[in-house]
Amino acid sequence: MGERYLVANWKMHHTVAESRAWVAAFRAFLPPPSGVQVVVCPPFTALAAMKEELEGLPVALGAQNLHWEDKGAFTGEVSGPMLVEHGCRYVIVGHSERRTLAGETDQEVGRKLRAALRHGLTPILCVGEGLEERDRRETRLVLRRQYGVGLKGLGAEDVSRLIIAYEPVWAIGTGRAATPGEAAEAAAWIREGLGELYGREVAERIPVLYGGSVSPRNVQGFWRAPGIDGCLVGGASLEAERFAGLFPREGSEVAE
Ligand code: PGA
Repeated sequence: MGERYLVANWKMHHTVAESRAWVAAFRAFLPPPSGVQVVVCPPFTALAAMKEELEGLPVALGAQNLHWEDKGAFTGEVSGPMLVEHGCRYVIVGHSERRTLAGETDQEVGRKLRAALRHGLTPILCVGEGLEERDRRETRLVLRRQYGVGLKGLGAEDVSRLIIAYEPVWAIGTGRAATPGEAAEAAAWIREGLGELYGREVAERIPVLYGGSVSPRNVQGFWRAPGIDGCLVGGASLEAERFAGLFPREGSEVAE
């Protein structure tokens, strides 16, 4: 089994002072269980402080978004080189809140993916269907469109550097998570589609995470779900002790 991931997406939460306090509290729960890479994605304004705070700790830094250009007249945007300078190794791309609130298209998500890869950042590509699409049983189609357009033109080598997060839009911030079975089914669809495009070996190697109302109550089911390699967590990541409560417990490994 490859590496597993527990990713915190703080969204628009935590000032610099709050971020520092979070790390101070989280230290008590380190290191994470072996084979689990913890990644924290704070707002841009806390990246510099978090780089300092995480120095020497087994926790990687990520960003929540990036622009596809390296520099230019793009008011309010932040580029790949700026994230690298701040110690980011990961970046979330195409989160559904960016797609709906900022109108990001699949094509733009694709350009962002390329920018991340160009600068050596590991993109965490978010895909997921809305409630109506799920009701119409279009999940598989929507996922295919999202990663199909996003990955267009990328070779197998680039694609094998991605992480994909399956985040059904109806589960994000709603308290209504998918079941581990639904997450596993979506992960299988994602790998099936990627297998057709890039070969089975590449598809099997790409980590697929689940995101959407993950909490200490339901997380162990996701750690055990076949084909799910970790979780992307919003609300339950904001408080350090609660986030540490999401670590996989003995017996949550998936049997090979
Ligand atoms: P949530 O958010 O855990 O608060 O549902 C998940 C996400 O948006 O990545």
